[in-house]
This record gives sequence, structure tokens and C-alpha cells, in this order.
Amino acid sequence: MNILILGSGGREHALAWKIAASPLVTKLFCAPGNAGIAREAQCVALDIADHTAVIDFCRTQKIDFVVVGPEGPLCAGIVDDLEAAGIKAFGPNRIAAQLEGSKGFTKDLCRANSIPTAAYQRFTAEAPALAYLRAQGAPIVVKADGLAAGKGVVVAMTVEEGEAAIEMMFSGDLGAAGAEVVIEEFLEGEEASSFALCDGEHALAFGSAQDHKRVFDDDKGPNTGGMGAYSPAPVVTPEIDRRVMEEIVRPTLAAMRAMGAPFKGVLFAGLMITRDGPKLIEYNVRFGDPETQVLMLRLTSDLVPALLASRDGELGNFDVRWARDAALTVVMAAKGYPGAYAKGSMIDGLDAAASVEGVEIFHAGTREEGGRILANGGRVLNVTASGPSVGAAQARAYAAVERVRWPDGFCRRDIGRRAVERER
Ligand code: AMP
Ligand code: GLY
Repeated sequence: MNILILGSGGREHALAWKIAASPLVTKLFCAPGNAGIAREAQCVALDIADHTAVIDFCRTQKIDFVVVGPEGPLCAGIVDDLEAAGIKAFGPNRIAAQLEGSKGFTKDLCRANSIPTAAYQRFTAEAPALAYLRAQGAPIVVKADGLAAGKGVVVAMTVEEGEAAIEMMFSGDLGAAGAEVVIEEFLEGEEASSFALCDGEHALAFGSAQDHKRVFDDDKGPNTGGMGAYSPAPVVTPEIDRRVMEEIVRPTLAAMRAMGAPFKGVLFAGLMITRDGPKLIEYNVRFGDPETQVLMLRLTSDLVPALLASRDGELGNFDVRWARDAALTVVMAAKGYPGAYAKGSMIDGLDAAASVEGVEIFHAGTREEGGRILANGGRVLNVTASGPSVGAAQARAYAAVERVRWPDGFCRRDIGRRAVERER
């Protein structure tokens, strides 16, 4: 079959790498892709926000299946439009994508279905939000309702910080995303992510991971899209995994079905593992980036039938296999990220880095020019490795990082440290 992947990051490179290995694939395309994806798939310069252009391309190239990477097109209804045009697509439709697109929607769904999550209130005006915040005290968490590219959450350690966050969101700094605000209880515990493939009715547990959101070592500095990750997450024990599926994921699927919006695709649960068990922090309705890079390294089954089973409602009797090995990825970013950074610097040593045992290098923001790889974004490379322990995968990943010659890039040096300490 012919498959089209939508997106251009490290997540899409990992998906392309895994999908290209499937014997079911005749031709693989990616729009718009990047320099690494170009080794696995034919990259096409499509504007993926232009659904008509995507549909036209699918018709011309006889695409049988579209795999959507990022949340933007999902929330904009790309799956609805593709399916209406008779093209199969992996991912939720626009209404089901609200599980990521609206924090208020998800919080209300949790409350109505007794799904464990932080206590909260929703606000559409500043004055009552400030009054609630002052009554609750700090620490407390202030969130913009809509998609805000990672800038919509403020964990306020003081009431003053919380007030500033509320004022910023209602002042319109985040655009429409901040027109509504959710204020919620601060949860204490260890964070982890859990993935489930869903077909509207059934859910198949699809691995766990932990990422590193802050830009600098020791979790210092501002939040980013993710500076590294490893899988599995030791804190997600088999018992926690079972509770996540029973107390969070399955009730969510049942609730979505009951409201006439069955959820298909991958449900990515951001969790706080608290003293009382797992609680939902947020849902994403797509694969994580960089979590997918480690999941794909560990998945031994063919990914394509699993994604098709999600689309076709056939996950009830489906299973996949995982390697026993752990996987870890180190994000190399352009100096300055997540603030302003330059594009166009040259990257060398990638072949030498990729030759370290167990290592795969997934590209995020790169482009090729005259046979050279140039940085073309904030997060640029995902140096990913598997190994018999997180520590072994970590050693391999950093051995590969040492071989990358990119003076204008940087990475965290402590990815996986907590898991490695636990292994000792
Ligand atoms: P989110 O975008 O909702 O994942 O939030 C970004 C980060 O804020 C999370 O990864 C957590 O570290 C933190 N966070 C969000 N909600 C809470 C909460 N209720 N309690 C504590 N930390 C939170
Ligand atoms: N790494 C977090 C995310 O993909 O949202």
C-alpha cells in the first residue's frame, strides 16, 4: 500500500523509519518531511494546513492510508476531511481531538466520569479567576484552555505568579487559546507518559516513557517541547499500567463513545504518579515528540497493521511485541532554543555517530543542501539508542552525541539520570 505521513519532526522521522520497514508498504511519502525523513520516504512540499491540497495529492498518488503526526491538523479536522474524501487516515476526528484541543473539555469529561485528575475550575473572565486563585492559594496551576504551543501552562509557586499568569492569558497574549482559563490543583509525584492505541472501542496499551521538558540539566530553565526521553518509564509498573488503562483510558473511551465521538488514534496520557495512584495531567491525541523516537526503537512488531487496526476498529484482538531493551533519546537543539536561535549551521559526523552500536539518529529540524545537513529548527536531532538497561542506552546515545560535530548545537547531559540511578 501507499502511505503518506504528515509532519516534519523527529516523531515523524521515527514513524517513517518504522513504517518504511513494513513489508506492507509499496511507496512511502512524507509532507513536508526533513533531511532525515528523505532517506525513508519521498518528501513532498505540501502545506498540510491546506486539506484540499493534501486530498488532491492522495488522489494523484493513490495513497491508501494517511498517518497524521502533529495535533494541529487533527484539531483542524484533517481526518474528517480525508475520510469524507474516501481516504483512510490514522488519528482522531476534529471532535475527538478536543481531548487535546481543549483542556476544559477534558477536565469536564474526567469530572463526569470519575477519572482521577487534579481538582479544577474553568473561567472565561479575569476577576472570578483571580478571586478563585486567591482563595485556593499556592502552589497552583494556571492553564490556557486551547492549544498554545507549550506556553499555556504556568505552575505557580506563589499567588503573585498565578495572578500574573491569569492576567497574561486574559490579556490576549496567547490569542484565542487564552480566552478561557483552567485553574487546577497542584499535584505532587513523579511524571510519566503512557500511550494507548485506540479504535473507538478498544484500547491497546502502547508503552510508557518519561521526557525531560526543561531546557537545561537538573530540570532548570524554561519548558521546551522535550529535550530527551526514555522508555519504558520505571515508575509505570505493571500495576500502575493496569490502573491507567482501567481508571483513565478505558473510561475516557467509553465516555467519548457515549457522546457520539468515538476516539481513534493514539491517546497519550500525561500522568502524575501520586501517592494515591496515577492521575491525568493532560491528554495529547497524537504520538509524543520525542517519546515516539524511543517507542519505535522498542517496538518489534510491524507498526502498519496496528495503525490500520486503530482506523478499522479492529484492536479488540490485536497485540504487539516490544523488545526487552530500553531506549533513550537525547535531543540536540540549536543554541538559543527555546528562545531565538539561528538556522543554517552545518552539522557533521552524523554517519560516525550512527555507527555506534544500537544507535539511530532521527532528524527533527534539518534540511539538506548540496549533500550537507544544515540545522533548520529549534530541536534538530534526536540521538536515540537502545540497550539492555536505560544506563546502557544512555551510554550509547552519549557516545554517539560525542561524534556529532555541530558547534552551534547543544544538548542536556543528564537524560535518563533518574532511571539510571534507580537501576544502580
Ligand atoms: P501540560 O502542558 O498540561 O502537560 O503541563 C506542562 C507541565 O506542567 C506538566 O508536564 C507538568 O510538569 C506541569 N503540570 C501541569 N499540570 C500540573 C498539575 N496539576 N500539578 C503539577 N504540575 C502540573
Ligand atoms: N514531548 C511532549 C509532547 O510531545 O507533547
